[in-house]
Amino acid sequence: MNTQILPIEDPLRQREPVERAAGILKAGGLVIIPTETVYGLAANALDGEAVRHIFEAKGRPGDNPLIVHVSSMEMIGPLAERFPDSARRLAQAYWPGPLTIIVKKSALIPKETSGGLDTVAIRMPSHPVARAVIDAAGLPLAAPSANLSGRPSPTNAARCIEDMMGRVDAIVDSGPCEVGVESTVVTLAGGAPRLLRPGGITLGQLKAVLGEVEVDPAVLHKLPKGAKASSPGMKYKHYAPKAHVIILDGTLEQFADYVKMHPRGKTAALCFAGEESALSVRAFPYGRRDDPAAQARELFDRLRELDDAGEETVYARCPAKEGMGLAVYNRLIRAAGFEVIKL
Ligand code: TXA
Ligand code: MG
Repeated sequence: MNTQILPIEDPLRQREPVERAAGILKAGGLVIIPTETVYGLAANALDGEAVRHIFEAKGRPGDNPLIVHVSSMEMIGPLAERFPDSARRLAQAYWPGPLTIIVKKSALIPKETSGGLDTVAIRMPSHPVARAVIDAAGLPLAAPSANLSGRPSPTNAARCIEDMMGRVDAIVDSGPCEVGVESTVVTLAGGAPRLLRPGGITLGQLKAVLGEVEVDPAVLHKLPKGAKASSPGMKYKHYAPKAHVIILDGTLEQFADYVKMHPRGKTAALCFAGEESALSVRAFPYGRRDDPAAQARELFDRLRELDDAGEETVYARCPAKEGMGLAVYNRLIRAAGFEVIKL
């Protein structure tokens, strides 16, 4: 497949590439689009055949449902059996933005999009290019992160090209993503509100609107073998670089000592910005220690750089689990296969 690259900086002025991307989507094709979180691999969410091609392009297991992206509240009515009042209040507070809300689906959502579940995940992104493409296509777009299944999500077009060249019809290039980790996923499809994946909207922000919010055990812990995942994506190996990543939980001094004493093959450190000079191995900084937003923005790209550099063992500094840090920890602990050493 020949993949077109469509640079779009200003979607209001650059109508031609926006219309071209929309035209491909209307015809059942695949287009990678930027969002404020990560790049997404989009297709018409209502076209089961088009959505099947997303799974093929990514090598994604078919039972892992996709998020449906909209650009207005009017688009939601036909997608959901019911959009409860709690969902409306969340949408009012945080949409457009990095939040995905799960509700009961309507018959219009094909099984390919919902992974066979009776629910649908809906998100209204804030990125102007994502919104312009959805508007121009006039369609809800199913879009998982635009990486090959199992690799870290792409936060710029170069990383999309690396994984998806020849596998999709077009890649829109709008520069780096602002948030850097995927959206927060919360389910309101029955029972108490439950956080399934932490992201750009924090647990505190959800509680401010909903009151109590349960945290799914899979957010912080490895699911026991055979356990049923509330979010199918959480049972798969994720965000994994080729290197063996181990989180070390302790002070910088303890970290530096441990790394020095325990080299294993080509060894590197995934540290906080400003700590590089304290370390005896090559350092890959991902945001300052007190800046979880910067950690989120940089984490996935650093994980890919570790692979580019051929690192074999990577010791990682442990992020705080508060606020945006919860999302950072959730991604890093998966990259580490849940391996944490308490120093
Ligand atoms: O920020 C994001 O959410 C990005 C951008 C492109 O919008 N998209 C993204 O999609 O991260 P994906 O497919 O990589 O992750 C979606 C997650 C998966 O873990 C999936 O299992 C879960 O959401 N999910 C989707 N629909 C669901 C449903 N109906 N019930 C439970 N979990 C669902
Ligand atoms: Mg993904």
